[in-house]
Amino acid sequence: MDCHIHPSILSADFANFERDLQRISSADAVHVDVMDNHFVPNLSWGPAVVKRLREVSPLPFDVHLMIEDADRWAPEYAQMGCESVTFHAEAAQAPIRLARSLRAEGAQTGMALRPATAVEPYLDMLSELDMLLIMTVEPGFGGQAFLEVTLPKIRRAAEAIAGSGAQLRLQVDGGITEETIVRAAEAGADTFVAGSSVFGAEDLSAAISALREKARTV
Ligand code: DX5
Ligand code: ZN
Repeated sequence: MDCHIHPSILSADFANFERDLQRISSADAVHVDVMDNHFVPNLSWGPAVVKRLREVSPLPFDVHLMIEDADRWAPEYAQMGCESVTFHAEAAQAPIRLARSLRAEGAQTGMALRPATAVEPYLDMLSELDMLLIMTVEPGFGGQAFLEVTLPKIRRAAEAIAGSGAQLRLQVDGGITEETIVRAAEAGADTFVAGSSVFGAEDLSAAISALREKARTV
């Protein structure tokens, strides 16, 4: 399987982002969690920090916006050159208009669903997206346990994507380890965010390779 591993810098050393970005240079992209303390009960960083991090990153940026008012803020991340910008379906007033404006700015467009949000209402807009993100924990914090209850939704989303003929990646985020990545891959995910399981390892590039190998065996 053509699987992508995106380490989340939410688990990096916040005093050493540049060093940690270099340490994950064998990954496919870096996952950057933007949180506003409204959509989720946690606060991370905003456009100014992301802009500077891009300048020292060897990897493409996969920005995950856990913010209210995604319609207002998401285009700014595309305009600064982030390769992929993902907004939450629950936070967008006009998801189709927003997806189109992100693509018009040249970014890959992702839409995320919280664990309890059904995928079915969004199936007709798959062609507007380059990535669908199914959260496998409640968004807001790293280090939580993978929610097995999301597996049937991953499976249904994968089937719908295959049936739609649209070219989009199916990403999972939260609690991804060498064990859970196998179940998520079996269900049909092809892009895996991993925060604590990568940054908690002694050898980050070995951790990335191990995750990739596990997903590939599926
Ligand atoms: C959680 C974030 C995740 C988080 C994942 O709300 O969206 O990207 O960093 O961390 P782990 O892999 O530790 O669950
Ligand atoms: Zn994330």
